[in-house]
Amino acid sequence: MFPKNAWYVACTPGEIDDKPLGRTVCNERIVFYRGPEGRVAALEDWCPHRGAPLSLGRVVEGKLVCGYHGLEMGCDGRTVAMPGQRVRGLPPIRAYPAVERHGFVWVWPGNAAKADEALIPHLHWADHPEWAYGGGLYHVKADYRLMIDNLMDLTHETYVHATSIGQPEIDETPCTTKVVGDEAITSRFMHDIPAPPFWRMALRANGLPDDQKVDRWQICRFTPPSHVMIEVGVALAGHGGVEAPKDKKAYSIVVDFITPETETSMWYFWGMARNFRPDDRALTAQIRDGQGKIFAEDLEILERQQANLLHWKGREMLKLNIDTGGVQARKVIERLVAAERGAAAA
Ligand code: FES
Ligand SMILES: [Fe+2]
Repeated sequence: MFPKNAWYVACTPGEIDDKPLGRTVCNERIVFYRGPEGRVAALEDWCPHRGAPLSLGRVVEGKLVCGYHGLEMGCDGRTVAMPGQRVRGLPPIRAYPAVERHGFVWVWPGNAAKADEALIPHLHWADHPEWAYGGGLYHVKADYRLMIDNLMDLTHETYVHATSIGQPEIDETPCTTKVVGDEAITSRFMHDIPAPPFWRMALRANGLPDDQKVDRWQICRFTPPSHVMIEVGVALAGHGGVEAPKDKKAYSIVVDFITPETETSMWYFWGMARNFRPDDRALTAQIRDGQGKIFAEDLEILERQQANLLHWKGREMLKLNIDTGGVQARKVIERLVAAERGAAAA
């Protein structure tokens, strides 16, 4: 269950620099590549000749050449040429709206007539000299909504990430959830607590002492179709927490673009944007490695949870207080999917 009339992150630009990339997004098998002038193109991953995946071919002067018998495909989905053949009557294949922006390649897997580039989210930290971003990609064999649940309820940090960002105060501090339009926001503010290892490292990186009590915050924002941005940080205790002046805190944004592959698998683009020491590449790499290890801890749980949900089909999960953020996000998704189906039926 996913809205199709939406922009999803499909890949990072580097993934298509040298060769075409075959990737399934929302059950659509798509080939991504760089067409004329390096512009991003996205087509059905189907050669109209014999059905070979075009992603197995190569790009020659902006045309996608099938790796089986050399059919040349244009980025509008029409065959341009084929050795020894006339191609005018060949059936076109589907082209998908695709745009490179903010360091990601975005695709619109639904009705192309509705694709509006203005709907791609604005990421204020991308392409900004005071911010740095580092991140990675995981393929996860689970319904993408399980990842949204996971990120909208950070009480799991205490158990799943005990050695890095977890601490008992997370469990002990209730969170609040509100819904504003299509956005669900879950916040937790903790006061006068010790900083866990990851945040001690970040305090040191900010030139702050790492052995003092801190105020810590987590503000998780879900926006459709499946983006979760989490403002996280710590400030030396008593300076106003998230509102503390810049020289008293370390903070960043956990970036999660969660792209459904099928009903039970996803492409998970994770990362962190920070606005301290943006030029320090070693720090970017260190944070990315740390975050990669932390997020890998979630994967086994989610994949095994998905396997259980398939085994006990129809068995309901509980919706407890801590689950409110994920429950509200799912409601937004259900509303959008219902609206799409309603429009399609009409
Ligand atoms: S299958 Fe692509 S050219 Fe034959
Ligand atoms: Fe986690």
